[in-house]
Amino acid sequence: MLGFSTLFGVAALLAGVFAGDPFFIVQHGTATFTTRVDPIINPGAISTHVHTVVGSSSFKNEYTYENNRNGKCTTANVVDDKSNYWAPQLYHKYDNGTFELVRMNRVNTSGPDEEVHEFPEGFKMLAGSSKRSTYDDNDYANKAISYTCLDYSGPGKPDTHEFPEYRCPQDLRANIFFPNCWDGVNNWLEGSKHVAYPASGGFDSGGPCPATHPKRIMSLFYEFHFSDNYEYKAGARVWANGDDVGYSSHGDFTNGWPTGLFPKVFEAGSSCDVGFSIEKCPVLEPIFTGSGGGTCTPDDPSVIIDEEVGENGLLTALPGNNPLWSANGAPATNNASSSSSVNSTTPSTSASSATLSVIGEIHLSPTHIEGASAGGQCKAKKRRLSAQF
Ligand SMILES: *[C@@H]1O[C@H](CO)[C@@H](O)[C@H](O)[C@H]1NC(C)=O
Ligand SMILES: *[C@@H]1O[C@H](CO)[C@@H](O)[C@H](O)[C@H]1NC(C)=O
Ligand SMILES: *[C@@H]1O[C@H](CO)[C@@H](O)[C@H](O)[C@H]1NC(C)=O
Ligand SMILES: *[C@@H]1O[C@H](CO)[C@@H](O)[C@H](O)[C@H]1NC(C)=O
Repeated sequence: MLGFSTLFGVAALLAGVFAGDPFFIVQHGTATFTTRVDPIINPGAISTHVHTVVGSSSFKNEYTYENNRNGKCTTANVVDDKSNYWAPQLYHKYDNGTFELVRMNRVNTSGPDEEVHEFPEGFKMLAGSSKRSTYDDNDYANKAISYTCLDYSGPGKPDTHEFPEYRCPQDLRANIFFPNCWDGVNNWLEGSKHVAYPASGGFDSGGPCPATHPKRIMSLFYEFHFSDNYEYKAGARVWANGDDVGYSSHGDFTNGWPTGLFPKVFEAGSSCDVGFSIEKCPVLEPIFTGSGGGTCTPDDPSVIIDEEVGENGLLTALPGNNPLWSANGAPATNNASSSSSVNSTTPSTSASSATLSVIGEIHLSPTHIEGASAGGQCKAKKRRLSAQF
């Protein structure tokens, strides 16, 4: 069975439950990096697959809070957000085995809503797994990863947990909802085990935190929008890691927010319940640059792996030579290409036409927990703050 959920529904529900809580949306301009770098999973090394990255210009293959904060610019329209947000890059596979980079045109991220602890300096986390090839409807970590097929020509279709089996004319949206319970101690544990989903009520419910992870943190939700300008064909949507089913969608976050900002937003309460109108929130207004986010180039372009990722034309193999795989990790059945036929890249006739445009929106809802008990009572005070990048 597929689990059905919609972010809009979630947003509406939370707005009802937590009316008066802060809510704001940060938007991002074009992506700064589309490359095989991942400072969480592959620190100091080359990542196994291509990611699309927004946020701080000083994204590197090692994360430190200071480094993120030192970035000379950010794609966010809140100048003080020097976090980085990334997800895998999507490709389209043609019948002849070539791969086309699928334009990622915007990111919409948001988070759960409650009173929360702000992200500590140096905090990083993951949602989803690049290795997952199955779906378990009883596992919140699985349910928190989904797709919305945007098609304004008819009634909305339910969200899915694998790539939808139809075309999405107004974008394929990859939804990634991060855990919002924290052990209260670690900035990171192997496998992102320092964070967890609620113990009950749903991954996005704001339900009680488990005793092992008693502290509520801001909820973070990404919506990465990919153009879907192809006739639907089974197996043609391929994540950069080779997954052609879609279970391995995932998101990565490295904190670069200034310490002390979110508590002020919480205090501001409903005056920061502003959606896209960040200028109406007194705490954020001074650091708001206007709608849409900005352009931002890498501080150190040598961070980018020197290889074609598809921005200049079709590829004959996924960067990293990743084989194609389907459900349960089986080799893809519909794979026209093979690793042995790898050609560096198909030269492009017009590189400029393939320029990636990324507008990111990420929702954050910080939540404080006051007096969280050992039993994980996480709802002392409910406040919501969502930021879209
Ligand atoms: C992002 O999500 C929010 C709430 O879910 C929605 O209101 C907004 O329209 C979305 N933005 C885009 C660009 O899709
Ligand atoms: C593969 O198919 C695509 C889409 O039809 C086409 O643009 C491309 O030129 C083809 N490449 C080769 C090597 O045939
Ligand atoms: C295609 O599938 C075959 C057999 O199913 C497998 O051996 C091969 O590695 C696959 N190629 C790619 C590029 O996934
Ligand atoms: C790789 O490139 C060479 C030279 O451009 C070409 O002759 C060959 O057919 C290509 N192989 C594949 C599998 O595309």
